[in-house]
Amino acid sequence: MELVDPDVERYALEHTTPFDPQLRSLLAEASDALPYPSMLSGPVVGRLLETLVFAVGAASVLEIGTYAGYSTLAIAGGLAPGGRIITCELEAAHADFARRHIAASPYSDRVDLRVGPALDTIAGLTGPFDFVFIDADKTGYPAYFEATLPLLAERGLIVADNTLRDGHVLDPPDTWEAGTRAIAELNDRLAHDERVVVVQLTVRDGLTIVRRR
Ligand code: DHB
Ligand code: MG
Repeated sequence: MELVDPDVERYALEHTTPFDPQLRSLLAEASDALPYPSMLSGPVVGRLLETLVFAVGAASVLEIGTYAGYSTLAIAGGLAPGGRIITCELEAAHADFARRHIAASPYSDRVDLRVGPALDTIAGLTGPFDFVFIDADKTGYPAYFEATLPLLAERGLIVADNTLRDGHVLDPPDTWEAGTRAIAELNDRLAHDERVVVVQLTVRDGLTIVRRR
């Protein structure tokens, strides 16, 4: 399903502050060199993440799902002075791509890339995190959410990507594939979860913003 009219998407892109040339070239190279261009967050989501991180004055960020490192570096640009982002990636090839671009960026000293299952990495972290971005395997979202909520700072945010799954969360449940099922069930639970306040955005493929109640 086309969630937003392409002309409107283009207009939004054209009226969003562009990133620096390094991040623009990362996006171009990742679109060609990595297998899943649709997984790249792009400039509008990148700017939104950077703006949220800036607004909460985040010094400590956890990202689950590095992929090319595009959102990692977008977020890094919004960090408070001395801020750090830990980013978790399962796939060595993705981590290698991201590592190279992180090293070439102005933010290499702000980024801590951890390769391996994110839940293993999270088990060794104490937080608190001012900002958490969940953007990895979709069946893992419920576990990532439960693992990170206790590590969230009092005024922190958890943001989850792809919470509309190209609109498939609106399809009949018996047609859901595993990732859509996990996300649709999480969306339903979160809307009534007494621990949190949630807003579902229709930006790109759906972003859900969560804070403590
Ligand atoms: C998929 C995953 C993503 O994180 C994304 O932003 C777009 C698509 C996917 O698994 O298809
Ligand atoms: Mg995503």
